[in-house]
This record gives sequence, structure tokens and C-alpha cells, in this order.
Amino acid sequence: MQQSEQEQQKEQEIAQNEMPDLIVNPYEVVNNSKKQIDYDKLIQSFGCQRIEQSHIERIQALTQKPVHHYLRRGIFFSHRDLNQVLDAYEAGKGFYLYTGRGPSGDSMHVGHLMPFIFTKYLQEAFDVPVVIELSDDEKFFHKSETTLEEYQRYGYENAKDIIACGFDVNKTFIFLSSKYAGHMYHNICKFQHAITYSQLRGIFGLNESDNCGKVAYPAVQAAPSLSSSFRHIFGKDEVMCLVPQGIDQDPYFRMTRDVCYKLKVPKTGCIHSQFLPGLHGFGTKMGTTDPTSAIFLTDSPKEIEEKVKKHALSGGGMTKKEHQEKGADLTVDVPYHYLRFFLEDDARLEEIRVQYGKGVMMTSEVKKELITVLTKIVTEHQQRRALVTDEIVEKFMELRPLSNYPPKKNN
Ligand code: TYM
Repeated sequence: MQQSEQEQQKEQEIAQNEMPDLIVNPYEVVNNSKKQIDYDKLIQSFGCQRIEQSHIERIQALTQKPVHHYLRRGIFFSHRDLNQVLDAYEAGKGFYLYTGRGPSGDSMHVGHLMPFIFTKYLQEAFDVPVVIELSDDEKFFHKSETTLEEYQRYGYENAKDIIACGFDVNKTFIFLSSKYAGHMYHNICKFQHAITYSQLRGIFGLNESDNCGKVAYPAVQAAPSLSSSFRHIFGKDEVMCLVPQGIDQDPYFRMTRDVCYKLKVPKTGCIHSQFLPGLHGFGTKMGTTDPTSAIFLTDSPKEIEEKVKKHALSGGGMTKKEHQEKGADLTVDVPYHYLRFFLEDDARLEEIRVQYGKGVMMTSEVKKELITVLTKIVTEHQQRRALVTDEIVEKFMELRPLSNYPPKKNN
């Protein structure tokens, strides 16, 4: 216990001393540089591991499917115990995927979608169960802008967006933590028992005037990492868990893994993604307070076009002449960066990188290409979401076994 407290304090000190321009935690992501976050430094200060080519090759060999472009391009870039999870899969024991969303409003932006798009790919590639937590309680404790009932309503609305990513109802369980917590309360208790207030203060920056819910909640995000929180799926089996997430969520799982060690259960595996920045540049965030900062899943084609044209920060030259001479600065260019996330065609992306970087391609052309890609993604998402009824949401939330657990023998 003493040692892990010291370790966490040390991590915080390293993060603060070495990266004064960068704060990354579940409640704050601040990047004061104009460029992309230095993810190598983040890996170092968080103490996780880079995803190597060997992991990608192993995933490809195990799944016999082309790996997702988020992996190929290093967008999912870091992990904890990924090999142990793959070992369990290879040994025929399987694993399950756990991810989540803090429902803070009716509408999600394209950045929120990323972990779900990736989780859906993993679900299909490995054919493993998925559990998804909607942490209405977390948002109620931390935002307190409205009632718990309203956060629950946001949860149902967000569930429709998540389902619209294409999750298979027979293989996916979605739950609101305020409603499901009783079923995993035995594990919540174990986490709460094993974590001290001073640890929580160190990890999440809590203090005495914070409400008690903020102190109690981290155990609620940790508990779904134990398969015994889902008896209706796993019975009494102990199954390894892999959590796809944006790297801001890692502090929760560092804490979770520490406790797993004490509880003598397998440590939760993690796989982390980079952040999609706000349209205004790498140092900016996406948020509802400034609708021009992000592409929302409710945006119309016209809104997408206007936002990209007017607000996506360009790294191109100030004049045509300057652009043709020097080329675009891709280290600050938002449209190119968004294409890295959303344009699946590797050859076309490479062509844009080279031609735009040399100044042969103009910003307006790159933006046009991004508008086409985003409009397709958002419009198709809206069409799928329109088909998700309240009854379908209820089905995903029903307590039931999932069809792909236990894993088939020939895995
Ligand atoms: P939330 O709702 O803030 O975000 C949901 C998921 O989206 C990721 N994310 C992003 N990824 C890339 N670029 C962005 N700009 C971006 N913004 C958000 C987040 O990292 C997260 O993975 N506490 C959680 C909810 C939760 C959860 C979990 C998340 C409960 N259990 C288990 C991951 C795993 C939250 O408020 O997420």
C-alpha cells in the first residue's frame, strides 16, 4: 500500500515537472503547445507501454483479419498487459472488452465515437463479449448541472449513438452505473476497501470540499474490470478484461490494476488512444460550450462543411506563393490530422501527406476531402441511429448471457 502511494505521487511529480504544458487526467486535458501531444513522454510518465509492430502482427495473426487503421497508424498507441490478454485468448480462455461513456449531454462528438468504433472492430475481430458502462453517476457528482434523472436520460440517448456504431445485441451488454451498481456492489466494496482517500487525492486531485460521490465513484468505474461483476455473462469464471479508452481515462485503471494485484485477480489490460483535438488547433478541446470547436454526431452536412471551412486550423502557407514554396506544416494542421483518424484509405492519406506537405495540394482541397469523409461518417451514423428504438436500447441493457461466451474451442 505504502509503495503504491509513493509510486503514484512520483508519477504525478514527474508529470508536473517534465510536462508543465500538458495536463492529462479524466477531468482535464490541457495541451498548451500548438503541436500534437508528446505521447512518448506521456507513456513515460504514466508508466504504460508503446504498442509495437509485433503486437499489431500478433493481432493480425490471431484474428486473421486486417488490423484497424487506428492500430496501423499508431492512433491506439499505448497499452498495459496487452500480451497477457492475447495469451489468454490464444489459450482458449477468451477475454472481454469493457469501455464506457460519461453521459454529460444529449449529443456526442466524433472524438467520443473513437473508442466505440475501435471496440466494435475488436469485438468483431476476436468475437468476444463487450460491456459498456454509462457513468451517469460520475457526471452527476462532477458536473452537478442538472438532476441525476437527467443524466440517466442522457445515458439512454448516448446508448443510441453507441449502438449505432454497430454493436451486436447478442454479444454486448450496456448498463447505466446508477442502475446496475447493485449487481457489482461486492466488487465496488472491495475496491473502496483497498483504496485510501489520500491515494484518490493524489490520483484525481480531490479535496475535502468535494462531494462524497466523487470519492466513491472511481470504484464504480473499476468494478466492471472484474468478470465477477457480470455473473449473468461469465458465471463463476475468471475472465481477463481489456479496456479500450482515451488515455485520459488511464488514472482510473492504474488504480484498478493496483487493487487487482492486492485482490490476486488478473490485472486489467488497457489499450489507449490519442486525442482528437478541437477544430481550432492541437491546443484546443472539443466541447458544447463552443459548437464550432467540434463536429457533433447531430451536425448537418452544411454545418460540417461550414465548420471545416471556417474553423479547422490550417498549417498551410499564408499566401498561395508561400504555400507552394514551403508546403503545409502538418504538425499543426487540423484537417490533415482529422484525415489520419477518419480516412481509411492508406494510399490516399499518404498521397495527401506528401502533396500537401510539399505545397502541391492546397488547404482548400484537403478540407474538401475531409468534408466528404466526415459528412459520410456522420450522415450514415445518423441513419443507423434513427433505427435504434427505446426497445432496442432495453434489449442491450437486459441481464442475459451473451452468445459468444464461453469462447468456442477452436479460438
Ligand atoms: P467520456 O464520456 O469523457 O469519454 C468517452 C470515451 O471517449 C474518449 N474521448 C476521446 N477520445 C479521443 N479523442 C477525444 N477528443 C476524446 N474525448 C473523449 C474518452 O477517453 C473515453 O474513452 N469516465 C468515462 C466513462 C467511463 C469509461 C469507462 C471510459 C466509464 N467506464 C471505461 C472508458 C473505459 C468518461 O467520462 O468518458
